[in-house]
Amino acid sequence: MTGRWITANLKPMPEPTQSPTVELLEGLATTRAIRRYTDDPIPDDDLAKILFAATRAPTGSNRQNFRFLVLRDGEVATAAKRLLGESFRTGWAEKRSTDGYEAGSGQDLSSPKARMAATMQHFVDNFERTPVVVLPCIRVRHGGLIDGASIYPGCQNLLLAARGLGYGGVLTGWHSPVEADLRELCAIPEDHAIAATIPLGRPQGNHGPVRRRPMSELVFDDVWGGDASWAIEPSGTQHTQAGPKPT
Ligand SMILES: Cc1cc2nc3c(=O)[nH]c(=O)nc-3n(C[C@H](O)[C@H](O)[C@H](O)COP(=O)(O)O)c2cc1C
Repeated sequence: MTGRWITANLKPMPEPTQSPTVELLEGLATTRAIRRYTDDPIPDDDLAKILFAATRAPTGSNRQNFRFLVLRDGEVATAAKRLLGESFRTGWAEKRSTDGYEAGSGQDLSSPKARMAATMQHFVDNFERTPVVVLPCIRVRHGGLIDGASIYPGCQNLLLAARGLGYGGVLTGWHSPVEADLRELCAIPEDHAIAATIPLGRPQGNHGPVRRRPMSELVFDDVWGGDASWAIEPSGTQHTQAGPKPT
């Protein structure tokens, strides 16, 4: 009955212009942070599809108080990428030292830690060559989490659409130290925050299953810590122990 009601009352969905390249649920579980890109440009029509997905994301009360500033190879974009590149190199140098990337297993060049450090170094050293950098901006209304809730869904839509079209990127926060300079350079209004910096390009590596902690540690039933016995992961799910153990 319910199904018939839905069928009778919904307008038919428009035919997709192009079949999706990655099934939705598969894409959600296999969109990795991609930090190494080829020099291939992102053609305008693909970039349009990626930004279309970003701008279809939800915002509070559908205010759509988000804006996506796309940096390609114009004069201002080149200067902004340079500014960002310097900031990223400083950000990574600090993280490399404070997080002890060279200590312990990091001394073994084949360890995951050392390989991650090498990827990060490559990422920041080549930042200016990134084909496209997107600055997702949000008009500041309440501040903090509530404003973030109206921009980060768009960021994830953008990354998922990029993955669907064979590209990759990563949400980063290393623009913060140069946010004021960027705002001036790119004429971003004072009442808008730059919520992230998202570099995009054709991956040198591959997307693939992301590793997170077991779902049983992250999903509770009824009460905090309550065992959600129904929350069973797909077989073969791989895990990471990264981050502090959730309580
Ligand atoms: C809020 C947030 C901030 C992040 N900031 C940075 C950053 O400044 N630099 C960076 O290289 N990656 C950054 N990342 C990317 C994460 O490191 C990455 O998504 C995470 O390690 C998972 O990687 P995976 O999806 O490939 O498993 C950030 C991610 C989020 C959600």
